[in-house]
Amino acid sequence: MIFTVAIDGPAAAGKGTISARVADHFGFAHLDTGLIYRATGARVLAGEDPIAAARALSPADLARDDLRTGEVAQAASRVAAIAEVRAALITFQKNFARRDGGAVLDGRDIGTVICPEAEVKMFVTASDEIRAERRYLELSGKGQDVTRDGVLRDLRKRDARDRDRDAAPMMAAADALVLDTSDMSIGQAVDAAIAHVAVRRDADAG
Ligand code: CDP
Repeated sequence: MIFTVAIDGPAAAGKGTISARVADHFGFAHLDTGLIYRATGARVLAGEDPIAAARALSPADLARDDLRTGEVAQAASRVAAIAEVRAALITFQKNFARRDGGAVLDGRDIGTVICPEAEVKMFVTASDEIRAERRYLELSGKGQDVTRDGVLRDLRKRDARDRDRDAAPMMAAADALVLDTSDMSIGQAVDAAIAHVAVRRDADAG
């Protein structure tokens, strides 16, 4: 069975949690494509050329436990604006999307570039302040030295870079369901996403 769920949206909107729970619920594989760009960014911070870094990426890079920092996130969004970096990473993502058994991918360009034929597309978003608060709690909870203002500033900078770039800019696909989670708990957002996928899957099976 080929069935792709594409989940896009700005930083810290809840894509990761929603994607993981949707994948778990339906028994689909999950790929957090942001990790690929974060892993490339981390290599560049260590001195590598961005295009060479993207081409050299291996599964071990994605398993690194130091990718979820503000510094790596900014490096990720800088390398993600380079067309050759994106080109080096596209085949792996396209193949993952159409693997047998169903797949959930979350990122910025899944419904628009990686898998425009996805059976389900969602664009998950929330207000800047709420996203920044969620990310602040996540990072400070891990003991990282962050401030609310700093996280909000970083997130806006990254969103602007992701939205305004020429190569695969972040945007909702025309046929995506826009899920604004500003006034939802994460449980409510997950339930809404699962309900939406279930309707599409049932239509697909019938
Ligand atoms: O977790 P968060 O939403 O903050 O970010 P992420 O999904 O880990 O993505 C990190 C960065 O990678 C983003 O700011 C984008 O610049 C880039 N990215 C991208 O360009 N395309 C994707 N499909 C996924 C991430």
